Amino acid sequence: TKPMPGTRWIGLLTAAGCRVELFPVQVCTENKTILSVEDIRSLIGTQCDGVIGQLTEDWGEELFAALRKAGGHAFSNMAVGYNNVDVDAATRNGISVGNTPGVLTETTAELAAALTLAAARRVVEADDFMRAGKYEGWIPTLFVGNLLKGQTVGVVGAGRIGAAYARMMIEGFKMNLIYYDLYQSTRLENYVTAYGEFLKSRREVPVTWKRATTVEEVLGEADVVSLHPVLDKTTYHLINKERLALMKKEAILVNASRGPVIDEAALVEHLKENPMFRVGLDVFEDEPHMKPGLEKLPNAVVVPHIASASKWTREGMATLAALNVAAKIKGYPVWHDSNNVEPFLDENSTPPL
Ligand code: GLV
Ligand code: GLV
Repeated sequence: TKPMPGTRWIGLLTAAGCRVELFPVQVCTENKTILSVEDIRSLIGTQCDGVIGQLTEDWGEELFAALRKAGGHAFSNMAVGYNNVDVDAATRNGISVGNTPGVLTETTAELAAALTLAAARRVVEADDFMRAGKYEGWIPTLFVGNLLKGQTVGVVGAGRIGAAYARMMIEGFKMNLIYYDLYQSTRLENYVTAYGEFLKSRREVPVTWKRATTVEEVLGEADVVSLHPVLDKTTYHLINKERLALMKKEAILVNASRGPVIDEAALVEHLKENPMFRVGLDVFEDEPHMKPGLEKLPNAVVVPHIASASKWTREGMATLAALNVAAKIKGYPVWHDSNNVEPFLDENSTPPL
């Protein structure tokens, strides 16, 4: 059949370079950035085999039931995180759930590294200062920040993204590692050991690693803490008032995972009380909003959930999400099924690495 307006064909490029067209897809052309449950219900309509959803959408019983009634049996989030998806509700309705791990690992870790550097070296504050015409000449006390080299980087959640971030900070800035995860990441540990040996062979100070037994241990020891857990009930408000109080007064906290991992109101208070404490945030508790006060704090660097926003990665996420749905519709196993990527802070799940 001929594609209708708003309809594209989804296809595969085979190794031989042939394009195999699988089926037409309806591309949402609603002039809205975020779709409501109602919008999606009407888009699903009465006939729909599968849907690619966004992390801003609430995929629960209502939508999965609507999809089942429309004859659908495949769903993929175009995101690695799927805290917006009620997988049990999907299962009850006979719908497979896919996500998009892998293609965004390095891109997301790089943004976490960028936030770390921006916070450590006060890049955004200094940029504002410059643009405001306030620079009147070099003085030794202007925007003094933190040197990362030789300091300790703390990683909470050492899955794919956390481990990639750790490697960047270790290799790039010769930081020591302390990490917390329910799973031991022997791959990451071996990597740090080998890199430490390499530095020693060059008569440089070696880097070290330590696996913490509690999150508190990471918070107390690290100069930089980056959060990379999944969001679930075990990680909701993982960073709260009490735990912030355990951190060093001049520490840096980075979050490119999910906003609710931090109690944002408590963070605002902590930033007010500790002007040398700095934070880099990609995600917020109640997106697109941020907690009142955060916008005024010079010790916070804030960006709008862009950690996976590189061209290569966004194309990869879209492709993977499409393949998840296409594979299911064509009767193949879903390539990236949520059943295979359970939250790694949950004791019953499979190790991430
Ligand atoms: C983005 O936040 C993602 O989970 O992919
Ligand atoms: C600073 O610009 C220096 O030269 O030390």
